Amino acid sequence: MSEQTTEMAPAQSRSEQAVRIIVHEHQALWRVLDLLDQLLSDMNLNDQRPDERLLTTIFDYIEHFSQRVHSTPTDIELYKRLSEKSPETAPLLEKLARGYVVGHEKLVELRELLAECEKRWPEGREEFSHALARFTEALRKHIRKEEGVVIPRARKLLTEEDWQQIIEARDVENDPLFGERVREEFRELRHQIVSYTPEKFGGLGLKHADRVTAPHAEEEMLSIKGLVTSYGQIEVLHDVDIRINSGEIVSLVGANGAGKSTLLMTISGLQPVDRGSISFEGKDLGKISTDRRVAQGIVQVPEGRQVFKDLSVHDNLLMGAYTRGRTSEVMDDIERMYTRFPILRQKHHNLAGELSGGQQQMLAMGRALMARPRLLLLDEPSMGLAPLIVEEIFNIVKELKKEGITIFLVEQNASQALALADRGYVLETGKVVIEGTGRELLSNEKVREAYLGM
Ligand SMILES: Nc1ncnc2c1ncn2[C@@H]1O[C@H](COP(=O)(O)OP(=O)(O)O)[C@@H](O)[C@H]1O
Ligand SMILES: [Mg+2]
Repeated sequence: MSEQTTEMAPAQSRSEQAVRIIVHEHQALWRVLDLLDQLLSDMNLNDQRPDERLLTTIFDYIEHFSQRVHSTPTDIELYKRLSEKSPETAPLLEKLARGYVVGHEKLVELRELLAECEKRWPEGREEFSHALARFTEALRKHIRKEEGVVIPRARKLLTEEDWQQIIEARDVENDPLFGERVREEFRELRHQIVSYTPEKFGGLGLKHADRVTAPHAEEEMLSIKGLVTSYGQIEVLHDVDIRINSGEIVSLVGANGAGKSTLLMTISGLQPVDRGSISFEGKDLGKISTDRRVAQGIVQVPEGRQVFKDLSVHDNLLMGAYTRGRTSEVMDDIERMYTRFPILRQKHHNLAGELSGGQQQMLAMGRALMARPRLLLLDEPSMGLAPLIVEEIFNIVKELKKEGITIFLVEQNASQALALADRGYVLETGKVVIEGTGRELLSNEKVREAYLGM
């Protein structure tokens, strides 16, 4: 364990984390507001009837956001403390607090107007459209005030004790900042939004959805010791030590060229080991071929997806099971992939090359899952994808963990990769320079400066 990660006082990282989460949620909400604008102009300019299910889910999300995740405990308690410290901010805070009540009423109204719009199309459109435009504008104003005034002042004026009390004032289960349950519900809503959002607006364009989830495990699975790897004369990995426990998500972050992909390829057996060792479940992988590693459960999703572009989605999935033959079990697994990634069912006849980047990433993951991995190696799955899809990819990673798959996640998108990691490593020019839990790394000064741009 490296020194830097343990020095920070826990109270400090707690408040920093709280602020970070609030800002992150604001950004997420902002993207949803952008989506609402796009849906609105699609409705008005292209005479597109509103997708009632998608809009209702978005309204649920905003409601959930403002009533549970954000407002009641987070902001109201924060507002109270900040008003005491900064009387000149009090009127603004009062106005913002009222905004939550008004916002709730407006949402109720919007749902009614949406139903009305559906029923009396196109006459009902105008009223709904105006109400929606006013609503998104007000919400944006609210976020701007929070980001521009409230958060900076709270950062300056509230003490660690204030933050501690803000956090402690809540009941654990419904804690909007650290409570898993609320966040879980929240993620589910976002997942639905991404699924139903049309492709042209950066979503998956799903028509109908359903999905499943299951159990999990623990102890050392992969152990890399003193690993050295080269391309010809050039040594790329120098004395790398990494451990992955069963059931964990371990993230590896690092700049372009640091050697991340090389490390994954060495684990897969595509790149030879010069010195050091890699063992999987206690057995040395040294002489084991890539195919046999796959059969043992080590499966890589390569950088840049690399699906077979001239094969159908279905055949790509079948290729993932090449070590297993074409049994009825494999067919059952394909069915399971279609349930997990409904968009792949919808596109199963399409050539993989016809899919969008996000869809291809899902296909690449589906193909890897067909090999029934126990250790899944993901090489920059979020690369080049729209923010909505990136979020979906990371949500899928979390689900896979819940199902008991151990995950080694390589990412340049450090903040999100570390936020979901149990543990993480930072690789710099072929050396591990920092390691720690995901939380430790996120609050580590060096990581923040170099990889989070803070
Ligand atoms: N096939 C190769 N032959 C020679 N050098 C390579 C090859 N692949 C990668 N490299 C070099 O190895 C270093 C690490 O690359 P890579 O593992 O792809 O980094 P990352 O995935 O972190 O961006 C880089 O300097 C890169 O130029
Ligand atoms: Mg790479």
